[in-house]
Amino acid sequence: MIILAIETSCDETSIAVMANGKILSNIIFSQIDIHQKYGGVVPEVAARAHLEKIAIVFKEALETAKIKSSEIHYVAYTATPGLIGALHIGKVAAQAISVYLQKPLIACNHIQGHIYAAAINDIFHFPLLALVVSGGHTQLILMTKHLDFQILGQTLDDAVGEAYDKVARILGLPYPGGPIIDKLAKNCQKIYALPSIKDDGTLNFSFSGLKSAVINLFHKIDKDIDSNFTSNLAGSFQKVAISTLILKLKKAISIYKPKMIILVGGVAANSQLRKEVMYLNNDDCKVVIPPLEYCTDNAAMIARLAMQIIKDTIKK
Ligand code: KG4
Ligand code: ZN
Repeated sequence: MIILAIETSCDETSIAVMANGKILSNIIFSQIDIHQKYGGVVPEVAARAHLEKIAIVFKEALETAKIKSSEIHYVAYTATPGLIGALHIGKVAAQAISVYLQKPLIACNHIQGHIYAAAINDIFHFPLLALVVSGGHTQLILMTKHLDFQILGQTLDDAVGEAYDKVARILGLPYPGGPIIDKLAKNCQKIYALPSIKDDGTLNFSFSGLKSAVINLFHKIDKDIDSNFTSNLAGSFQKVAISTLILKLKKAISIYKPKMIILVGGVAANSQLRKEVMYLNNDDCKVVIPPLEYCTDNAAMIARLAMQIIKDTIKK
């Protein structure tokens, strides 16, 4: 079974080919360079850039996978959530390919795709707890079987990736802020006091208070005294952001006693977060964190989700 998958929900134009569960190609064209001059993703610019690149990415995905378009059995695409104009480009491309090849079209959810990134190289064991951390979402999701997603908690304001990006912007760092804050935090020599997380008894998250506290601190710091202030602030912010995620994750573990924990989404690329979530691995509960190319937006995860949808709902 060969699945062609298209992901265009934000600022990556990505097309993957999966054959019988194996990823043959996962081409990702990142628009980061285009959006960097605006300090963030501009939806209209993203849609135009997807339009410009999608045919080239399609060609490259087929060439890398060494398949002909006539060999494709299913066409999957990210339907929601995401930037509407960006999503439309992927949808129209998927529809055109599916109509031309007369093959079924599978609409996929982007967040569910991030979750299934962890199933590309591993087998899910249930109950499974997923910590989804991306630029748009921060959610704790419980799965008791395939394609069953129960949201246990989510952010009440900013997503954690969004907080990374906004803090980076204040510190004068380029978009996206996550990777650069991750790097700078390694050089943190002084931890600034920031409001610690209050255990409110729920599994929800909140990052806007932390973001505002970092912004206020940035304006107050005497930059002549602390010449390492960018790294110090990056490290101080990251420490609280990660401890918030870990606190809620541990709380969910104690309640739902999962057999597997997965960390997915763009922020799952964070080196410190990967380390701290990996510590939770034990004989009763396996921790799976996808390789970096499957953490940030990519079409391989959409192909893997589509495979599950085909198996469990179409071919039943
Ligand atoms: O999943 P993703 O590629 O796109 C969305 O669905 O939003 O996530 C993008 C987010 C951005 O906010 C980016 O700053 C963050 O993931 N990110 C990171 C790292 N790499 C990407 N955050 C922290 N540390 C990283 N190494
Ligand atoms: Zn994403």
